[in-house]
Amino acid sequence: MKIISSIEELRDHLRGQLRTAFVPTMGNLHDGHLSLMKLARKHGDPVVASIFVNRLQFGPNEDFDKYPRTFQADVEKLEKEGVYILFAPTEKDMYPEPQEYRVRPPDDLGNTLEGEFRPGFFTGVTTVVLKLLSCVQPRVAVFGKKDYQQLMIVRNMSKQFALPTEIIAAETFRAEDGLALSSRNSYLSADERAEAPTLYRVLNEVADEVRSGHLDVSELERKAMAELTQRNWKPDYVSIRKQSNLQPPAAGDMAQGEKLVVLAAAKLGNTRLIDNLEI
Ligand code: PAF
Repeated sequence: MKIISSIEELRDHLRGQLRTAFVPTMGNLHDGHLSLMKLARKHGDPVVASIFVNRLQFGPNEDFDKYPRTFQADVEKLEKEGVYILFAPTEKDMYPEPQEYRVRPPDDLGNTLEGEFRPGFFTGVTTVVLKLLSCVQPRVAVFGKKDYQQLMIVRNMSKQFALPTEIIAAETFRAEDGLALSSRNSYLSADERAEAPTLYRVLNEVADEVRSGHLDVSELERKAMAELTQRNWKPDYVSIRKQSNLQPPAAGDMAQGEKLVVLAAAKLGNTRLIDNLEI
């Protein structure tokens, strides 16, 4: 595997490649990331991964400085997955001058759910993703459904800018007890790790209620938030949305069998976890 930090060198290596499959990451790779690499391999060749902890998508009081950085271990894992190039730019490579041009997602999608609780987050994500896609110029790029809203925003961006990259969705990779794998799980204490699967359990309870005909969305959301709070979580939201556009369903949508997804974000101790489940 070649490890490349400069955009120019990356372009030289990928010149003429028409089937590149790309997986952007912020490192601290776990089996969830590796499942994205495997999916990328099915959709193209060569597989290119990136590791870049993108300052633009972190708020001033968020965990940019303490975000886990495990470069050497990551390299070994990617080598085993047969990744051809690891693009690992420094901040200077990626942002040699202040990044004044940014991509701002539409308010209805960018300022709801995660966007409501992490102002500016999606502008940071779309800006770096557009730049990474411009560097790698892949035919496909793989994003996990764990970050459901991110996946939708990136997919819509790619469509609206007519980018030549197809965005592929990868299923969420879960531990045996249901916890969605995430780099931030490494912040959890042993007790918190034991409690963490509750989030997925609560999402399943909501989904089961909807499937069995319970159509009062607000009541289901309130009940789920109360259950988390009672177990010492601090939920930001548990929200049932339409899969098509992540907007809240109207009563008519529910009755007409509109496809739904329930999304949640909650803090356990100091660790903020997110998860979702398609209904
Ligand atoms: O999902 C992530 O790890 C990041 O948001 C991404 C897509 C690599 C952009 O920094």
